[in-house]
Amino acid sequence: MSEAKPSGYSRPEAGAKHQNAGLDGPRSTLPQVSIVGLGRVGLPLALSFADKGLNVLGIDKDADLLASVGAGTMPFAETGADELLARVHASGRLELTDRVPDAARADSIVLTLGTPSFSHIEIDMRDIRSVLDDLLGVLRPGHQIVLRSTIAPGTTEFVAGYLERRRGLKPGEDVFVSHAPERIAAGRFLAEIDTLPCIVGGVGDASTDRAAQLFEVLGAPIVRTTPVQAELAKIWTNILRYATFALPNLLMMDCEQHGANVFEVIDLINRDYPRGGIAMPGLTAGTCLRKDFAFSEERSHAPGMLLAVSRVNESVPLFLVEGMKRRLGSLAGRKVAVLGLAFKRDTDDERDSLAHKLIRLLERELADVVAHDPHVRSVNASFEEAVSGAEVVVVATNHSEFSTALRAIGDAAAADCLVVDPWNAFGAAQVFAYASELATLTAR
Ligand SMILES: NC(=O)c1ccc[n+]([C@@H]2O[C@H](COP(=O)([O-])OP(=O)(O)OC[C@H]3O[C@@H](n4cnc5c(N)ncnc54)[C@H](O)[C@@H]3O)[C@@H](O)[C@H]2O)c1
Repeated sequence: MSEAKPSGYSRPEAGAKHQNAGLDGPRSTLPQVSIVGLGRVGLPLALSFADKGLNVLGIDKDADLLASVGAGTMPFAETGADELLARVHASGRLELTDRVPDAARADSIVLTLGTPSFSHIEIDMRDIRSVLDDLLGVLRPGHQIVLRSTIAPGTTEFVAGYLERRRGLKPGEDVFVSHAPERIAAGRFLAEIDTLPCIVGGVGDASTDRAAQLFEVLGAPIVRTTPVQAELAKIWTNILRYATFALPNLLMMDCEQHGANVFEVIDLINRDYPRGGIAMPGLTAGTCLRKDFAFSEERSHAPGMLLAVSRVNESVPLFLVEGMKRRLGSLAGRKVAVLGLAFKRDTDDERDSLAHKLIRLLERELADVVAHDPHVRSVNASFEEAVSGAEVVVVATNHSEFSTALRAIGDAAAADCLVVDPWNAFGAAQVFAYASELATLTAR
């Protein structure tokens, strides 16, 4: 996070009345849309609305994040967002505050808050509940609330019912409530925001109309549906990906058991076969895939299947550690270089990355772990520090930089270092192989 001094946002004194300050200082213009939660979904969305000409009020409780955005510095990497922030900064159309009730200054309030899951298979809606409670006293007839966060089936109706019970505002008549799920992939936000169909499910047609009017300014086709179908469509978009990757991960483990090469089996399955194909193995997790299946599983009539999918993906780090031990014996005191900390290729997002689980498991084997990631900002070693003298090098994230790193590993790592590459980042088609073997294979 940048420590830069904000240009227009002022940090409120404790207990003091907060004065709104925009990127260009306090303004009187009424915002047309408030975005509550300026994280990886909310901030690019706020910038996109502002770029389309709307006056936007961005709200977050994280003072460092507000200071960074106010100073014109993206708090995380998102392709093209630095230029977009600079453009919006110059336009003066984004105002920032940490006061949730100020969201009511705009007719449209979009919630882009985090929705993790509890460990016992249940959505954690505490951020949404807390923001709704902050808004209860200031909502007035005519307001619309759009849930952009990923939510469990039934949550949109719950929010509508909550507002009616607590404030007497009739959904679809006094207050308009809808779900317009975010389905964009990290790093592709600006490439997809104006093309990916925008699903909109409102509580009543009038709610759907209002949300559609707001989001159509972004330029993507609007697909109208019911709230619960919008919720299910989003969750199952992610479940499909999560299950899709569990299959090659399970196959990778089966291949190890049978002494087979998973990449050769995958090639046999897919080569010139006209009815679909199997994906490649890897460390499958991340902030969305790891938890969204739980929103379906919490009320599933066929419980277990998705838990099994999760267990397959979650056991890949242990599978890799056991594979190392099968080849080297004890890992105690051995230097293990972990390449990649982000959960996804070429991003800086470490949330719910299995690289951290892998590191914890290796540390429990008393291995000396040194991690390197060229994208993330958390403290990590340089590539040279990580691989120098390493007895094991494991690719935990398939960042582009690693595809050409094999020779450097061969030069700097210990003689006959074990290379673990479940992603096939090096193109040698070996999950476990010694550096000397890989040099021969990739030289062919
Ligand atoms: N990250 C993705 O790629 C992605 C993609 C699609 C959908 N989603 C979904 O979108 C939602 C948001 O995800 P995200 O990755 O942007 O989360 P995030 O954690 O990056 O952002 C949430 C923001 O909300 C703020 N916040 C929390 N409580 C608040 C409060 N009471 N008042 C003001 N601000 C508050 C936090 O400080 C944070 O900045 C989640 O439901 C997620 O599942 C995420």
